[in-house]
Amino acid sequence: PTGMEKRDLISLTDLSHEQLKRLLVSAAALKTQPGPPRLEGKQIALLFQKPSLRTRVSFDVGIQQLGGHPIYLGPDEVGIGKREPMADVARVLSRYVDGIVARVFRHTDVVDLAQSATVPVINALSDGEHPCQALADLQTIQEHKGSLEGLTVAYIGDGNNVAVSLLFGAVMAGAHFRAASPPGYELPEDVWKEAARLAGSTDIRMEQMREPEQAVQGADVVYTDVWTSMGQEKEKEERIAAFEGYQVTPSLLAQARPGSLFMHPLPAHQGEEIAPGLLDHSSSVVFDQAENRLHAQKALLLDLLGGASSP
Ligand code: CP
Ligand code: NVA
Repeated sequence: PTGMEKRDLISLTDLSHEQLKRLLVSAAALKTQPGPPRLEGKQIALLFQKPSLRTRVSFDVGIQQLGGHPIYLGPDEVGIGKREPMADVARVLSRYVDGIVARVFRHTDVVDLAQSATVPVINALSDGEHPCQALADLQTIQEHKGSLEGLTVAYIGDGNNVAVSLLFGAVMAGAHFRAASPPGYELPEDVWKEAARLAGSTDIRMEQMREPEQAVQGADVVYTDVWTSMGQEKEKEERIAAFEGYQVTPSLLAQARPGSLFMHPLPAHQGEEIAPGLLDHSSSVVFDQAENRLHAQKALLLDLLGGASSP
């Protein structure tokens, strides 16, 4: 025990503006130079209630590159809430491992997990937020645009977990943010309020709109995500109907600023939120985003568990 309080990443708002900046610098450095194995001897649980490709593999590989040992616990293994309450899972895991990376359905579950655990907890996606995705997204934008300051990020579609973390991250990094969503699928009011608090007295503009065409005018980044998130499968047909007209297409991208980026966290559904072939559009950076999950999360792991944040 160091006497220092353990830190978690449950929401992107757990980071100060300074911490976020440092993480992005560290992530970029780790991309060119993998860094010393500062997680040597550390055991890290990957507690997943939902499927995953990127998050699971990038954490597994990243932890191993840093000398640590990942322990994957899939949806059928622990039985959170069925076999055992989350608080007990948290207290037991804390006796074995040095950190917990958790993907859950309800955001309150990852909050409870962090509260009961005595080791750092990282939110690897909940229905409320996806902060690790946002870190990789910010790194990707910085890589292609140099800086986020003064850029305009246009988010098209469902005001979901990915959109919430992206809004927080964009505003913290000094970018303007617009979201175009159909009625009933907007980013929640309290999220806009929190984003306004994060922006402080700066002149960062934040707007909820209806029309995708309006949102992309002059945008430097056009971002979309699935219409039906994991756990909402029953609403699929209703959502497909509600999001008619919200598909990101080459002609929509053509209305953004020249040189703009197209982004998506993946997995993508061609013919729903994106037109077929859009991942291969000349402005697409979706596979850079996927790669940067690895680097951004390594920076985060080093910050929370490695005693220092730079390689
Ligand atoms: N973007 C993302 O989190 O992908 P996975 O669901 O495959 O982890
Ligand atoms: N909004 C999506 C993101 C998947 C990475 C979901 O929650 O399923």
